[in-house]
Amino acid sequence: MSEIVKEIEQLKKEKNAVILAHYYVDDEVQKIADYIGDSYYLAKIAKQSDAETIVFCGVSFMGESAKILNPEKTVLMPDMSADCPMAHMADAEKIKEMREKYEDLAVVCYINSTAELKCHSDVCVTSSNAVKIVKALPNKNIFFIPDENLGRHVAKQVPEKNVILNDGFCHVHVSITADNVRQIKQKYPKALVLAHPECKQEVLDLADYIGSTSGIIDYASKSDNEEFIICTECGVGYELRVKNPNKKFYFAGTKHFCPNMKLNTVEKVCHVLKTGENAVEISDENRKKSLVPLDRMLDMAK
Ligand code: 13P
Ligand code: SF4
Repeated sequence: MSEIVKEIEQLKKEKNAVILAHYYVDDEVQKIADYIGDSYYLAKIAKQSDAETIVFCGVSFMGESAKILNPEKTVLMPDMSADCPMAHMADAEKIKEMREKYEDLAVVCYINSTAELKCHSDVCVTSSNAVKIVKALPNKNIFFIPDENLGRHVAKQVPEKNVILNDGFCHVHVSITADNVRQIKQKYPKALVLAHPECKQEVLDLADYIGSTSGIIDYASKSDNEEFIICTECGVGYELRVKNPNKKFYFAGTKHFCPNMKLNTVEKVCHVLKTGENAVEISDENRKKSLVPLDRMLDMAK
């Protein structure tokens, strides 16, 4: 064990802290985490954990959600500038407009959104529970924010609803093209295509499986197939290789790299544990309002 990892272990004990990490952070950071997972799993862990401090290796909306669910806990971000651009790609004015237009409207907010956007929403979803939750809502009209691609994927699975899309996107996932996938498939025709629903429709059309990061990892791990074309951020490669050392994974695209997720480093984890810097703060009013759709998600996704 390196010196810095020993120091982190010691600090975790002293501060009664746990480290949560998303699958998109660097391998080195995933290795020191107590829990790694997709957005839904990490939100559940944040809610259940009895540690006093949570170090969240991810992006702002993840740290914010952990704090909203646990106001009494200290939530530390290794790098405060790690933000998800998509989290800002919807606006409160448009939500208001939609609510005036449709009497029976549910605003469904992908968890990749700011606390401010969550305050104006009826329920949150992640890529692993969005279909289930939208299906179960009593409302016919659904305004899905901010991600257009996930919204369209959900709409296809729930044709009985009128899903209104918003034009947000993840630059990492939309950088993957159908041509990228076809080129790999030509070389490895037996490979199955596993895609995240934030990908464009042209990529999802080629997929054998569409799911969240943990969905992709589970599918590849349980499958008898030996080769896979992965259409999501490259960080999932770590867990895919740990769980499946004999299988082959080919990543589609050339920009499937989230620069914000990669701002998390082992050194920064150690620094915030030592200093208590970068604590997530949310006003009481915003916290109370944004807790409603988050709690509703945790309840409906059970
Ligand atoms: P999931 O891990 O929930 O699939 O989310 C992907 C993502 O883009 C997180 O930023
Ligand atoms: Fe946001 Fe995309 Fe990065 Fe996830 S991968 S944090 S959705 S920019």
